[in-house]
Amino acid sequence: MSGAEAILVTGGAGYVGSHACKSLAAAGYLPVTFDDLSRGHKEAVRWGPLERGDIGDGARLEAVMKQYNPLAVMHFAGLIEVGESVVNPAIFYETNVGGMLALLGAMGRTGVRDLVFSSTCAVYGAAQSLPLREDHPLLPINPYGATKLMAERMMADFALGQDLQFAALRYFNVAGADPDGETGEAHHPETHLVPNLILTGLGRRESFDLFGTDFATADGTAVRDFIHVVDLVDAHIRALDYLREGGPSLALNLGTGAGFTVRQVISAVEALAGGPIKVKECGRRPGDAEELVADAQKAQAVLDWHPAMSDLKAIVETAWRWHIAQG
Ligand SMILES: NC(=O)c1ccc[n+]([C@@H]2O[C@H](COP(=O)([O-])OP(=O)(O)OC[C@H]3O[C@@H](n4cnc5c(N)ncnc54)[C@H](O)[C@@H]3O)[C@@H](O)[C@H]2O)c1
Repeated sequence: MSGAEAILVTGGAGYVGSHACKSLAAAGYLPVTFDDLSRGHKEAVRWGPLERGDIGDGARLEAVMKQYNPLAVMHFAGLIEVGESVVNPAIFYETNVGGMLALLGAMGRTGVRDLVFSSTCAVYGAAQSLPLREDHPLLPINPYGATKLMAERMMADFALGQDLQFAALRYFNVAGADPDGETGEAHHPETHLVPNLILTGLGRRESFDLFGTDFATADGTAVRDFIHVVDLVDAHIRALDYLREGGPSLALNLGTGAGFTVRQVISAVEALAGGPIKVKECGRRPGDAEELVADAQKAQAVLDWHPAMSDLKAIVETAWRWHIAQG
């Protein structure tokens, strides 16, 4: 690890960030995690040092940047749950918008130019046309998506006045786990579809809450585009290379272009569980879109990125193995 060039990974103790740290280390970098551990896990920081700090603390960010002199930043730190953002928007503005403000300031003061940012398909809101292209109108329907859009806008505005290049990577539904079992998805509370189904299939949850059965889709449940976390972080490494080679700032969708209904995902997990999963049908959640499927051709073309692990079976199998190993 010594002598490797550093990449600052905010949120590196979280689900996506920890997988990114593993991939960065494999690519020869030193991933330096900056995380307050409010939602992440100390044990997930295995591929480089952990620097504890709040993403809103610009002075602390600046000190860490001066210490490690990172080549670039990957910014994963943030709050992520749509439902929580509806109930408590203030902490989302504070963390996701205030955090970006502090980060961009620290990057400007220390001369770090390149930034790969975790954005989301929630910036689009309800789909007016499918699959969603990057030039689809940006009309988020929940505070989470609004804060991510503001963070994107902030990067674009700062790039006018400071030496900054960014890639806003708009994730669709991230799922799956490291095939080696070294890290995986562990949100507390867990609200994501695949882990919740698996936890129910393993008997660690009484039942699975199915939100919305009256959407205008093939079986009435919402349609989502699932991307394996390993493919997702591969796109981050490629985006880092792209920026380091001087590529101009851009926004890219990260998905597969294939949509699955929630009921199809339930069936995929039931196949692993060897029997039916107890499902509790609930009403729609506020802020949930009916169908979100990516047009990811731009990422494929610009980054030469081709998801290799993102068929639904590989996604649920790697996640299943990870959850079994957690006991
Ligand atoms: N998981 C998905 O499906 C998904 C989809 C779209 C976008 N994203 C984005 O990807 C990023 C990572 O998501 P994740 O699923 O890994 O979430 P996560 O909760 O597992 O990781 C987020 C990390 O940020 C840290 N963090 C939170 N607030 C902080 C603060 N104030 N200061 C410092 N650190 C703080 C947490 O401790 C955690 O380790 C987020 O920005 C999220 O918006 C995720």
